Amino acid sequence: MRILVVGGAGYIGSVCVEQLLNEGHEVAVLDNLCEGHRAAVDRRASFMEGDLQDRQSTLSILSKVQPEAVMHFAASALVGESMENPSKYFRNNVANGLNLLDAMVEAGVPRFVFSSTCAIFGPPERVPIDETLPTRPINPYGESKLLFEKVLQWYGRIHGLKFVSLRYFNAAGATENFGEDHRVETHLIPNILKVALGQKPHVEIFGTDYETPDGTCIRDYIHIVDLAQAHILALKANESGFFNLGTGGGSSVREVIETARKVTGRKIDIAEKPRRPGDPPRLIAASDKIKRELGWQPKFQSLEAIIESAWKWHQKFPKGYKD
Ligand SMILES: NC(=O)c1ccc[n+]([C@@H]2O[C@H](COP(=O)([O-])OP(=O)(O)OC[C@H]3O[C@@H](n4cnc5c(N)ncnc54)[C@H](O)[C@@H]3O)[C@@H](O)[C@H]2O)c1
Repeated sequence: MRILVVGGAGYIGSVCVEQLLNEGHEVAVLDNLCEGHRAAVDRRASFMEGDLQDRQSTLSILSKVQPEAVMHFAASALVGESMENPSKYFRNNVANGLNLLDAMVEAGVPRFVFSSTCAIFGPPERVPIDETLPTRPINPYGESKLLFEKVLQWYGRIHGLKFVSLRYFNAAGATENFGEDHRVETHLIPNILKVALGQKPHVEIFGTDYETPDGTCIRDYIHIVDLAQAHILALKANESGFFNLGTGGGSSVREVIETARKVTGRKIDIAEKPRRPGDPPRLIAASDKIKRELGWQPKFQSLEAIIESAWKWHQKFPKGYKD
């Protein structure tokens, strides 16, 4: 298929682009490089620098590429920043996303795969989190993604757009050539690996008194190659739908640090800090629906394998894409 990957110069998009190309798809990338990197775009893909904010150029890119499907990774994705600057989140994640959808309708592009998030649920009543749980986001980031999911439902009903929304839990890991290099890194695993590389003195643990076995928060880490596979399966989905996506296993912050010590063989110092507001103790995905309906099966089940892949990438590119 011919696919337009929007946000394909970012962390998850770059790996998806690579995996799509490996499976023989034709790929064009649209990204404004506000967060992504030109060097993160696989050379086999064509690249167009552009901003979804610009309706006219978005439409002309879609009309030129004529993709059979669009994958939409482009978003602002920092929870803390969204609490300080909600406007940025509603503009980029909802209004700019609408520009993309309208351009798709106008250019006649029938399929859409959307990067949603477990943040749409807010603190869950129970774990694992399945698709039947109520959605009660507690920050503008999660709310913006939930609003966009609602928009998708209406575009499906009114314009016949076929969509799959994938609500990722914690994306992690790397392939040989593509990994995680955010300008502001808030994710645990790259921050731990920066300590292992001697680029940071310690890793911060926010909250050590949660009602979990070791007192630290538990999250569900999913390897980005498995995430990418879910996107590729989504291209063949017969029905539109929403799917939670994680490996279903939970690892605490301390367990992640301990596993990283084992994988890297390096000293990793920690600094214990108070809880951050709005961090639920446990976020674990129930991914039965996507397994059942799209035949998804994660290959990277162990945290060790996920961290190993990220460690290899960070050693190869210690300065990220600046190398
Ligand atoms: N990383 C995770 O663990 C995680 C978890 C849940 C959901 N998500 C979602 O997955 C998607 C990708 O996440 P990521 O970690 O790869 O983020 P990222 O910031 O690395 O990638 C996003 C890309 O979109 C581009 N972009 C942003 N706004 C744009 C615009 N207006 N026009 C054109 N390009 C634009 C950025 O330059 C960047 O390359 C995001 O939508 C995020 O909300 C990520």
